[in-house]
Amino acid sequence: MLLSDRVAIVTGGATGIGRAIGLKMAEQGANILVSDINNDAAERTAEEMRSLGVKAEVQVTNVTESAATEAMAAAALKHFGRIDILVNNAGVAGAPGWYTRPASTEEDWKFTNRVNVIGSVNAANAVTPYMRKARYGKILNLASIAGREGRPSLPHYSASKSAIISYTQSLAGELAPDNINVNAICPGLLWTPMWEQVGGRYAQNDPQYAGLPPREVFEKMIAARIPMQQEQTPEDIGDAAVFLCSDYATNVTGQALNVDGGFFMR
Ligand SMILES: NC(=O)c1ccc[n+]([C@@H]2O[C@H](COP(=O)([O-])OP(=O)(O)OC[C@H]3O[C@@H](n4cnc5c(N)ncnc54)[C@H](O)[C@@H]3O)[C@@H](O)[C@H]2O)c1
Repeated sequence: MLLSDRVAIVTGGATGIGRAIGLKMAEQGANILVSDINNDAAERTAEEMRSLGVKAEVQVTNVTESAATEAMAAAALKHFGRIDILVNNAGVAGAPGWYTRPASTEEDWKFTNRVNVIGSVNAANAVTPYMRKARYGKILNLASIAGREGRPSLPHYSASKSAIISYTQSLAGELAPDNINVNAICPGLLWTPMWEQVGGRYAQNDPQYAGLPPREVFEKMIAARIPMQQEQTPEDIGDAAVFLCSDYATNVTGQALNVDGGFFMR
């Protein structure tokens, strides 16, 4: 077991990639605080984790509110007595209904950066005083291959994920003297509700995908851009997250790991 008795907070941990990361960590013996705005889904996910023999609790948290992320860290300490791992996974692709609009609006920029960037900063700020005192910690940020290169279809999202890669490096340097590792994962192409919306935007904006249903956009992009010719899964991201948050990665910090079948080789 790579994470026996460790305590992990996973933001946006109720569904999708966050759920898979939490479950993979639970399989490796970690106790999990599932932190999300969606209480019902978080409770269901926590129950799945308990069935693996670990402890799991739910804390309803909107990461855009620093008071809420402070309460999240306090809840982890109350339930489990320690915080070893923070996974900053909560993320959005735009303001509500973004994919129905032909272009990004000011609200898309604000909303996306508030959740993806400020939300990650809030959660990291809430746990680092404790991790510094313990002289141990792992912070993992969910970036994206969209943050590796700007895309015409999703400028607000790409910019937020580039910011996360840069923030990962800054924070890693700041926290290295305290024995805290900070890394990021850049997931590739995963067929999730988020990607269904992204595919719709490409079909509207990019001539090579014009008018195609989202799933066809997705498959065309895999065929054209992914050398391994396969989609990625939430479980792929969970496996990489376990490694980066384990002591097998003691000397890995400030990195952004592409889990993308070779889409980007840098
Ligand atoms: N799906 C992909 O293809 C893909 C690719 C690259 C990166 N990512 C990134 O991975 C992460 C997870 O993506 P996903 O596809 O699982 O998304 P998802 O929409 O399935 O899940 C996101 C979770 O975050 C929660 N959430 C949203 N806003 C929140 C807030 N303000 N505070 C707390 N929780 C909040 C949601 O309730 C949900 O449970 C995101 O950061 C996303 O940008 C996803």
